[in-house]
Amino acid sequence: MPKHPVIIQGGMGAGVSDWRLANAVSRTGQLGVVSGTALDVIFARRLQDGDPGGHMRRALDHFPFPAVADRIYSEYYIPGGRGPKDSYRLVPMHERVNPKALNELLIVSNFVEIWLAREGHNNPVGINYLEKIQLPHLASMYGSMLAGVHYVLMGAGIPLKVPGVLDSFANHKKATYQLTVAGAQEGDDCTMSFDPADYLETPLPPLRRPHFFAIIASNTLATTLVRKSNGRVDGFIIEGPTAGGHNAPPRGKLVLNEKGEAVYGERDVVDLPKIVEIGLPFWLAGGYGTPEKLNEALEDGATGIQVGTAFAYCEESGLRHDYKRMLLKKVLAGEAAVFTDPRSSPTGFPFKAVLLENTNSETETYKKRPRICDLGYLRESYRRPEDGQVGYRCSSEPVTVYISKAGAVEDTVGRKCLCNALLANIGQQQIRAGKHEELGLVTSGDDLLALNRLVSEECMSYAAAEVVEYLTSNMPSQIIPRQAEAAQHLHIVPA
Ligand SMILES: Cc1cc2nc3c(=O)[nH]c(=O)nc-3n(C[C@H](O)[C@H](O)[C@H](O)COP(=O)(O)O)c2cc1C
Repeated sequence: MPKHPVIIQGGMGAGVSDWRLANAVSRTGQLGVVSGTALDVIFARRLQDGDPGGHMRRALDHFPFPAVADRIYSEYYIPGGRGPKDSYRLVPMHERVNPKALNELLIVSNFVEIWLAREGHNNPVGINYLEKIQLPHLASMYGSMLAGVHYVLMGAGIPLKVPGVLDSFANHKKATYQLTVAGAQEGDDCTMSFDPADYLETPLPPLRRPHFFAIIASNTLATTLVRKSNGRVDGFIIEGPTAGGHNAPPRGKLVLNEKGEAVYGERDVVDLPKIVEIGLPFWLAGGYGTPEKLNEALEDGATGIQVGTAFAYCEESGLRHDYKRMLLKKVLAGEAAVFTDPRSSPTGFPFKAVLLENTNSETETYKKRPRICDLGYLRESYRRPEDGQVGYRCSSEPVTVYISKAGAVEDTVGRKCLCNALLANIGQQQIRAGKHEELGLVTSGDDLLALNRLVSEECMSYAAAEVVEYLTSNMPSQIIPRQAEAAQHLHIVPA
């Protein structure tokens, strides 16, 4: 059995777990994971910001097909960066059949993120995708494999057909993926396909087939994935409802607590002994970000833990510094609060948001924002009644538009534009008409207050390596040999 890391730094979209964070974590010998969400837009915006540090260009210089790299660079790069009041130029939204140029952007941006996360060390690196965001899947996975990604992790859906895609791409073979289309009828063409041969300029040797981990929240899903996947599943991340980001919806009828949050019950608890019986390695996620919880996970038979929240606010994460500072101040004051919103995400999954001033966590602030959908990652594919073709709609787009696409008005209630808010979280906020700035919506796991073990009044920031050092502080060194070795080179600031 391959030696897997004990700690997985969870993928955090969009751009919170960027190449810098994943690189810093992987250097410690644990697994750094970049978020694969919206990488095409994030990459195009970095170029429009003048590519500070020249990192995009450096990675592009290693892309196997220089003509494609140069074309994309010259299309989006603005020397010196956009003016402070200039809007970002938009990238086309994804469709079942993407134009070639958009697929190239996906390939290149996924390549660049993994290439940079791997730069300067030889340890494994992973990428995280959300199954629900299906339209960019194929080109994205191929791009990250071209850069030699070691692990692909996928949640927010049932990724039964992903292992087969990875098998095909390892040999540069064509792969297909069934798009979920609301209202689809028999005979409708809902297949997406991607043939590397359409993009290869010169023959390349076979690629590494990355390990595939499914992020799940139920025993049934674990069994289904093992029995029915079209290829090898290498492990599971078992994620509970306290985890940051999107959560799996509770089973059964939706019940809300007095604050209006989704309530989880006994049926949502994963039976760990049954997971152990499956015989695949697994990691526990959601409130496991302490040395004590790591030991508990190991005692329960897990290989380790996946941690998000503790890494989300460290120095190397992509989150805006002003948001980090505001939030860590609240943590120290004991005032940090997280709301699990059953309505905000157009995916229909509960989404956790930190309550922060002047962000979209404030309902009244959000209400002032006109409904606009111009990024489109969370659009749902649906069968257009008029012609039976695949159409795309988002429940946070203008209500009249959504209804004109056969959407139900009740689905629009309380929805927020997560795409624009998540990009604002990483300092890529769109500016409209030279003055209106999109606001962020910061997500976090429930045990945000546990971060007070990493910060103090005197030292309001911490590095990713310190999180690893803290998490593994009670671990016997034979379980974490790579970490013990790497720790000698770390600069650990005492708490
Ligand atoms: C800011 C943030 C963004 C996240 N985004 C994603 C994501 O895009 N995909 C995903 O599978 N999980 C996402 N997660 C979940 C983490 O990968 C991880 O599983 C979770 O945070 C673990 O629980 P913890 O926050 O209690 O440590 C996110 C978590 C945070 C805090």
